[in-house]
This record gives sequence, structure tokens and C-alpha cells, in this order.
Amino acid sequence: MSELLAALSRRLGGIAFGGDYNPEQWGREVWLEDVALMKKAGVNLVTVGVFAWASLEPTPGEFTFEWLDDVLNLLHENGISVDLATPTMAPPVWLSHGHPEVLPIREDGYPFGFGNRLHYDPASPRYREAAARIAGAIAERYAGHPAVAMWHVSNEYGPTSWGGASADAFRAWLQKRYGTLDALNDAWYTRFWGQRYTAWEQVSPPEIPRTWSNATRRLDFKRFASDVLLECFQLERDIIRRHSDLPITTNFMRFYKNADYWAWAPELDAVSLDIYPNPGEPDSRVAAALNFDLMRSLKDGPWILMEQAASSVSQWQVNNVKRPGMMRAGSYQAVAHGADTVLFFQWRASRGGHERFHSAMLPHSGTGARSWQEIEALGNELGRVAEVTGSTSAADVALVFDWSAWWGLMDTHGLPRNDWDYATLATQWYRPLLESHVAVDLAGFASDLSRYRVVVVPNAYLVTEAFAERLAAFAEAGGTVVIGMFSGVVNEDNEVMQPAYPGAFRSLIGAYVDEYWPAREGESFTVRLASGAAAAADWWQDSMTLESGSALAVYEGGLLDGRPAVVENRYGAGRVVYLGTRLEASAFAALIDGVVADAGVAPVVADAPAAVEATLRSKGGVDYLFLINHSEADAARVGLPRDGVDLLTGSPVSGSLSLAPLGVAVVRCG
Ligand code: GLA
Repeated sequence: MSELLAALSRRLGGIAFGGDYNPEQWGREVWLEDVALMKKAGVNLVTVGVFAWASLEPTPGEFTFEWLDDVLNLLHENGISVDLATPTMAPPVWLSHGHPEVLPIREDGYPFGFGNRLHYDPASPRYREAAARIAGAIAERYAGHPAVAMWHVSNEYGPTSWGGASADAFRAWLQKRYGTLDALNDAWYTRFWGQRYTAWEQVSPPEIPRTWSNATRRLDFKRFASDVLLECFQLERDIIRRHSDLPITTNFMRFYKNADYWAWAPELDAVSLDIYPNPGEPDSRVAAALNFDLMRSLKDGPWILMEQAASSVSQWQVNNVKRPGMMRAGSYQAVAHGADTVLFFQWRASRGGHERFHSAMLPHSGTGARSWQEIEALGNELGRVAEVTGSTSAADVALVFDWSAWWGLMDTHGLPRNDWDYATLATQWYRPLLESHVAVDLAGFASDLSRYRVVVVPNAYLVTEAFAERLAAFAEAGGTVVIGMFSGVVNEDNEVMQPAYPGAFRSLIGAYVDEYWPAREGESFTVRLASGAAAAADWWQDSMTLESGSALAVYEGGLLDGRPAVVENRYGAGRVVYLGTRLEASAFAALIDGVVADAGVAPVVADAPAAVEATLRSKGGVDYLFLINHSEADAARVGLPRDGVDLLTGSPVSGSLSLAPLGVAVVRCG
């Protein structure tokens, strides 16, 4: 666990509670009211300055820090710590107007204009120079300020530019990756469609193609786009580090495809996440839990919930509110999965601008509002669970979630079907584990798998050789592996591996696929499971032949009648299960649950409804059992594996406990 994050928790005396604070939108009399209300609500940390570049540097090189001095002093005098941001997500108009080359070029060749945010080409030397100047000035001025507790570099790194400086940087990136043009031509398989390059200056980002662009060129551009953004983070981080030893982070996003967070995480002192599950779809809590487990796994320890909504957002067609109790349940859900903070976007609702209807801790309707009262109550309750900070979780199951696999499956086109949604697929595989209360870590291709009993791979269409070897070694040594359809097909260069298919996993799964059969529109299949039960399947069929494996399910009827749909293979001391189709949810859940149980993995609680989330965090020999009932309508009874004390009520609990709809318990066991 990061010592720096532990020091932050010690400084704050427990869970950090607060959010983005944008005082530049208000006058001083409002700031005075803000700090008074923050204290009332138990706020101990606010993120300041995220969008303040234009207010801090109104003309190039002329800084107006006085107002920020005042704000930081005021916060400090009132015992509120600051997560100080560099404002480089929203460059001022003087930069884009005076130097239009800083604007990112869209895929269609047009520049993205000013008037939103993220309007910068991450490779632009002019942007980087200006970002370094403001970040340096802020770090130098405030590194010693007693309010500052951590640093927040920029915000939600995200833009991709298809032209300008990024095009040059892409070529340089490729030169570094391949060394020679011949190596690039080989990797990109440019003999196909006569795409051979004869000079580096001919190579460019993948423009909008007449038909289809080169699949490996697209893949490399995704890799580059993540790396070039990371360079921006590193630039500012290194500048701040020269002035301060406090933790430095930047905020990640839910299922964000354009930045490989496995590559980013080691560069951050603490991982942070912004998440906005749609309260209109209560089921969105499953994907939220997956994202939380991903954040915990990225650095194998506590992380920072940097932004969530107090109630509704303003980004969808219909923006539903978080009904009474949902904000609290969602906040504890993050803590249950390892967050040591409960932070929001934003403290006070803006009166204008695009997000004027995005909820805030302090809403337009003020302290009489229902949502404020829930915020105030939560802020004053979190002290009861202060002792959980710094605790960690262990899992026997790893779910593989890797950006290369994601990009290969979704960004390169030309596959047997091209409507995959990698994140949805991962969520579908994660759901039965969550609902059976099995602890799950997320793993990337480069992660160490040896500490797990079970590794599940929802999809790895593209694999690295090293990952394929590690997975085989894991099985060989006695591990259980479950792999989803259309995995192990291509290598890192997006070239079909031999012997096909799936070249990377053929001996592992003990079967080969002679053809991938995407389902026709509306088509479904019947499979007969080893138990004798029948189940429906759809979406996809592998036309599969057994080698060393045996069938766990076979198709019944149809063109593949009697052929394997799910195979099982003994591999070394281990077991491998491969699904060549998409089973209906209940059959899929039963299969996953069975495989996990056969591997000797115990759930966190054995006796709880699926709507209850159960996780365990541990520290210094003490276990904290988190129970969250996500049902809005039904109370839930949970059989407790051990007796303990519910930290939220202070009462001893034993045998079982009952959770109200959206109710939460945090049981210190022992
Ligand atoms: C993101 C941003 C915030 C805000 C919120 C709410 O997470 O970081 O600035 O826009 O979304 O939409």
C-alpha cells in the first residue's frame, strides 16, 4: 500500500470526505458560507483549481494567485485540507486563440474548437510548455502551504489528436517501437492491399478510411494515444515532485478505453476514480463494483474515489436522481471495494455553464434540500468507519481485463462480428462472482497470476505471448482457468496465431475451432449441459472439435448438433474450461459458480441474497465485513460467518443481520 496515501488518511483522521471545489465561480462572501457548511457536513478534503487556469493566468505568464492564496488560507483556518489541482485540462482562450496548433485534430481532419474543455493536442510542444509553466508556478507557490495535502494533476486525461504534433509524435513512437521501417511493414502486414511504406514521413495516424484501415496501424495508434497522454501526466508530476513530497494523482474514468491504466498506475502515488453509475439503472452498480475492483487491483491497495454525484448528473438524455439512500449505499460500496475517500463533483452547484443541473453536495436549493441532508448525514457518519482506512482485500479469483485485448477486439474491425463490447462482456462475467459474494481481483496481461486459484478471461481475442505462457504455467501448476469465446486468436501485432484456432490457447483448451460462427440476427441455440439440463445460448458458436478436452456442454439440434459448446481440459495439474458460445445468464452463472467452488474458493458470505454486496477488508489481523443491500424495495437477511460489531450502529451482531432496503453494515469481526 502506498505510504503516501496512508499518511493522507492519518492526516485527515480517517476517510476523506469532500469534493471538487470551484471557488472561482463565486465571490468571497460565498466562500465564507462554503467553509462554514463544509465544516457542518464533515468535509475534510476539497479539490481546488481543476478549471482555474483562466482565473490564475489571465494573460500568458501573468499570474493572479492572490484569490487562491485567500481560498487556501480560509480552508486551512477551518481545518479543511486541499487536493490541489493543476488546471491543465481546460486551457484558456489565449492559448488556443493565439496558438491554434494546440487544438487537437479530429479523425476527420478538422480541429476541435475552444469552448468546451480537453481542447489540447497532448503532443503539442506549445501546450506542454504552457502546462509546465502553470503547473510549475502552482507547485512552487503552494508546495509549502499548510492546507495542501495532495496533488491532482490535470483532470480525466483523454484527448486524442489525429494530426498536428500528434502525427509527428506517432511517427517517433513507431520508430522507437520498431526501429526500422521493415519491422513496421512486417508488423503492420503491409503486403496486404499494397500498403508498404518506403519512408517514415509517409506514416501517419489512421485517418477516416475509404473502406477499412490497417488493423495494426489502428491498434498501434491506440497504444500511442495512451502513451502520449501519460507523458503529459509525467511532465507535470515531475515538476510537482521537485517541490513537494505529497501524493500525486490524476483521476481515472469508468471503463476508459483511451488510456491503459495498467501502464499508468505505477506512475501515480495513488489511483483515483471518477464514477457516475446511472441511478435510473440501479443495475449499473455491477459495473461500478467492477470498476472499483479494477482501481483496487491497479495498485493492489486502497484507492481514491475522486468524483461521484450527490444525486443526478447532467450528461444523459434523462438524468434521474439518486433516490433516498442510494448515494450513501454507493459511497459505502466504493469503500467496501477499497476506497479510502468519498469525494464528489462538486461541492456547490454551479448556477450556469453546461453542468448547471449536475447535482452537488450543496445543491441550488441549499441546506433545506433532501440531498444535502443525506450528504451532511454521511459526512458525519464516516468517522465511525475511520479505522478501515489502509485495510486491504485478498481474492482467490482474478478476472483478466486488459487494454490491448480491448483495443484489439473493438478498434481494429474486420472480425467475424464487430459489435463486441469488451467492458459489457467483462461485466457479464463479473456479475455471477459479485452476486455469489466471491472476492475478485482484476488482472492485466502483465499481472502475476500465481497467487490465485482461478483466473477468468472473459475475452482475450488479442494476447501477448508472455500472457499466454503465464496462463498456461498457471494451469499447469494446478490453477483453474475459464476462457471466453474468440480468445487467443491473434498476437500483439494482430496477426492470427498458428495453429489456428485459437492459436494461443489450443493446447490449453484441448480443442480446436475450425470456424467461428456468429449467430444470425435473433438466432438462438440449445445446449445440453453435463448435468443433463438444457440451456439456451446465442450470439456466437465455435465450430469446435475436441482434442485432449472433453465436452461440458454440447449443442442439441441445429447444424452443430452433438458438437461441443463448452469444453473442459485437464492441463498439467490444472483445469481449463472454455466457452464457445454465450450461455443464458442463469446457466452461465451456475457454470462459473460451480467452477469456482470446485477450485475450493469460498465466498465472503455464504448466505445472502444476490442484491447484497459483501466484501472483506483487513488490516493488522482485523477483518471488516462490508454488507450493502442494493435492493430499493426489499430488506435482506445475511447469515454472518463470524460475530462482530457493526461500526455504523455500534451494536454487536451475531448469527445473522437484517439490512433495510439500501441498508449498509460494516462489521468489525472478531
Ligand atoms: C467528470 C469531470 C468533472 C465533471 C463531472 C460531472 O468526472 O471530471 O469535471 O464534469 O464529470 O459530469
